[in-house]
Amino acid sequence: MKKVITYGTFDMLHQGHLNILKRAKALGDYLIVGITSDDFDSRRGKINVQQSMMERVEGVKETGLADQIIIEEYEGQKIDDINRFGVDIFAIGSDWQGKFDYLSEFCKVVYLERTKGISSTQIRSKNNHLKLGLVGKAKRLWKIANEAISINGLDIVGTSGAGYDRRLKKLDDYSFEELIEKVDAVFIESDIKNRYEQIKYSLERGKHVLCYLPMAIGRSQQHELLEIAKKNDCVLMSGIKTAYSTAYYRLLLMIKSGEIGDVASIETTCTSLDEVSKIKNYQKNDIWSAMDAWGATALMPIFQILGTDYVDSMIVSKKIDGYFDLFTKMDFVYKNAVATAKIGKGVKSEGEMIVSGTKGYAYVPSPWWKTDYFEIRYEDQNRNKRFFYELEGEGFKYELVNFLRAINHGRTLSYTGNDVLEEISNVYEKFYDGKDVRTI
Ligand code: CTP
Repeated sequence: MKKVITYGTFDMLHQGHLNILKRAKALGDYLIVGITSDDFDSRRGKINVQQSMMERVEGVKETGLADQIIIEEYEGQKIDDINRFGVDIFAIGSDWQGKFDYLSEFCKVVYLERTKGISSTQIRSKNNHLKLGLVGKAKRLWKIANEAISINGLDIVGTSGAGYDRRLKKLDDYSFEELIEKVDAVFIESDIKNRYEQIKYSLERGKHVLCYLPMAIGRSQQHELLEIAKKNDCVLMSGIKTAYSTAYYRLLLMIKSGEIGDVASIETTCTSLDEVSKIKNYQKNDIWSAMDAWGATALMPIFQILGTDYVDSMIVSKKIDGYFDLFTKMDFVYKNAVATAKIGKGVKSEGEMIVSGTKGYAYVPSPWWKTDYFEIRYEDQNRNKRFFYELEGEGFKYELVNFLRAINHGRTLSYTGNDVLEEISNVYEKFYDGKDVRTI
C-alpha cells in the first residue's frame, strides 16, 4: 500500500484545498492529512486563522478524502510522522516549491500545482473586512496601529484625540463623533475619565469596543456598559494585551489545573519611571499616574486566579499633589490566600510576577506583562519546567485578532471575565474616593 501525507492549516476549507487533497490522494492508496494545531500556527506567526482546530479537522473530514487525520504540533514533526507511519510520498502545494526537499532523505517529495485565485487569506479578508478607529493619545496608539497593519481584514480608518504624529503614519485624526460614524469598531485607550462616555456612545451606535482597563469607574458603570453591549449585540472586550498572549493564557490554565497546588499568594509588580521634573508637570506632559497606567494590569491576574471574593483589602499610596500616585501597593486578603499588586510611575522595581502554591510556584520574569516565558518551580529543582511561547511584537496583534474573531462569531470571548472587569472598576472607585486608601 502506498501511503501519501500532506499538511496544511485548511482554514475555511475552499476549492484549492479540495483540489490538493484529491491530487495527493491520487498519488497513492492511503492519504494522511496533517492539520496544524492552533498553537503551532500561532507560534509560526499565522495568528489570524478563523476556525478552531476542531472546526478545521471537521472540514477536512467532511471531504471524505482523508483516510487518517493527524495534528501537527511542533517543528520537525514531519520527519517523525513519515517514519512513524511509513509514508512513501510527501505531497504539498507548489507555493512551497523547494522548501521540503530536505524530506527526500526519508520519502519521495512531490510539489503539486496550486489552484490559482483562491486562498484562506483571501476569504478571510473578504469575510471580515472590519473598519477600526483608534481613540487616545498618539504616544499610546502608534504601537497598536503598527501591529494592526499586518492583520488581514482589518482596516484602521483613523484616530481621535491623537493629533498628527508621524509614528501614526498617514492616519487622519477626527472628532470622536466623526470617527464613530466611520467605523465598525473602536479601540479606546483614552484617559480613564473619558472612557465610560466614549464606550457608551459607541455601543449605542452599534459599534464594537476594545478598551483598556478600567472601562469605567465603579462596578455599576462597568455593569451598565456590559448590559448595553449585550442589548446592542456588540462585542465589548478588555484591551489589556497581556490577557491574550499565549504564555500568559497557558500560565493561567496551568495554575487553575493545580500544577502548583493551592494558590496561597500572588505578587505582581509593574513599574515604569518618568523623570521627576516631567512628573511634576504631569498634566501638561500627559503622564498617567501609577494607578492609571498600571493598576488594571497588575490587578488582572489576581482577580483571574483568586476570584473577586476577597475579605479585606488595603491600598497604600505615595502621592504628589494629593492626586498623582508615584507608587501604590494594593493588598488583598482572601479566605485562603493573599495577594499584592505593586505599581510605580516615579519608583522603579523588578517587574515580575510570582504565584506561590502548596506544591510549587510560578515565576514570570520582568516584564511579566509582555511575557513569552515562564517557569514552574518546585522544591526539587530537577522537576522545574520552563515554558516559552513566541510573542510577536508587543502582543497587540493577538488582542486584535481575538477581537476580530469575537466579532465574527458574534460573541465576546471571555479572556477576562465580567466579574474581573467589574472588580477592577470597583478598586479604581475606592482608589479615587480615597476609601481604604492610606496616603504616605
Ligand atoms: N493550496 C492549494 N491551492 C490553493 C490554496 C492552498 O493547492 N489555492 C494548498 C497549499 O499549497 C497546501 C494546502 O493547500 O498544500 C494547505 O494550505 P493552507 O496553507 O492551509 O491554505 P491557504 O489557502 O494557502 O492558506 P493561507 O492563505 O492562510 O496561507
